[in-house]
Amino acid sequence: MIGVTGAAGKTGRAVLAALAARGVPTRALVRPGRSAAGLGATETVHADLRDAGQVATALDGVSAVYVVAPNVHPSEASIVENVLAAGVPRVVYHSVLHPAVEAMPHHWAKARAEELLVASDVDWTVLQPCAYAQNFRPADVLRVPYSVDTRFAFVDLLDVAFVAARVLTEDGHSYATYELAGPELLSVADVAALWGVRAEREDLNEWYLDTPLRGYARDALGAMFTYYDEHGLPGNPRVLASLLGRPPATVADVFARES
Ligand SMILES: NC(=O)c1ccc[n+]([C@@H]2O[C@H](COP(=O)([O-])OP(=O)(O)OC[C@H]3O[C@@H](n4cnc5c(N)ncnc54)[C@H](OP(=O)(O)O)[C@@H]3O)[C@@H](O)[C@H]2O)c1
Repeated sequence: MIGVTGAAGKTGRAVLAALAARGVPTRALVRPGRSAAGLGATETVHADLRDAGQVATALDGVSAVYVVAPNVHPSEASIVENVLAAGVPRVVYHSVLHPAVEAMPHHWAKARAEELLVASDVDWTVLQPCAYAQNFRPADVLRVPYSVDTRFAFVDLLDVAFVAARVLTEDGHSYATYELAGPELLSVADVAALWGVRAEREDLNEWYLDTPLRGYARDALGAMFTYYDEHGLPGNPRVLASLLGRPPATVADVFARES
């Protein structure tokens, strides 16, 4: 039985589906009060990941856990601490590409969480995916609050989920950290061109005024946009290709599959 945290979110659902495709029994951990409909897990339990007791109860008896932390959450490291304290022997952590970038607080928080794994006595693996190709949705104009010309190694979430299921179910991945980057470096302008629409830069100050987000989530995303503006998020696809046993999907592949 493999536990998956953040199971009702975008990433968790994809990982549950990839494990189901391998016929592996799964236990989905879902935030209390939220629906677990349509997850396709063998079992579902409700647990607040900030509560060590709830996490330990929810993970009781699983042989491995895939740790998806809530998106841009101020308590990421303590959530990972809670999972480690639950005593599951194998832990695979969903980190991010380039977690050591201190200018992006939620990346930096994942670096701290990785440090906890490395210093623990569990059998661990870390996956470091780039931003997903699935983050973009068809629109008349693609608007982002950073340069439309900096480049990213956008990755297919289904490729990431396939690798997650592989390292959770096969031997030979203990104490490995895998960068998962897509096969091409594309700007938001390039992505817009694939759809035949225009890319437009939104003023970051306007984004701060317009976003319903507050506190850590708003500030961390604002810092990420400032970083993206200058650097994008480039990466190298060789590790992902090796783990997939085939070339990773391109953004065009993802659009063709999902449209
Ligand atoms: N999106 C990307 O491109 C990308 C790339 C690389 C890495 N990542 C990382 O992937 C992780 C997941 O991202 P995502 O896009 O899948 O996020 P998501 O769709 O928001 O999923 C996160 C899930 O966590 C749940 N959650 C929130 N607070 C919780 C709590 N206190 N206890 C238990 N569950 C809680 C959420 O529940 P509710 O539905 O009730 O809010 C949601 O189901 C993040 O750590 C992110 O940094 C994302």
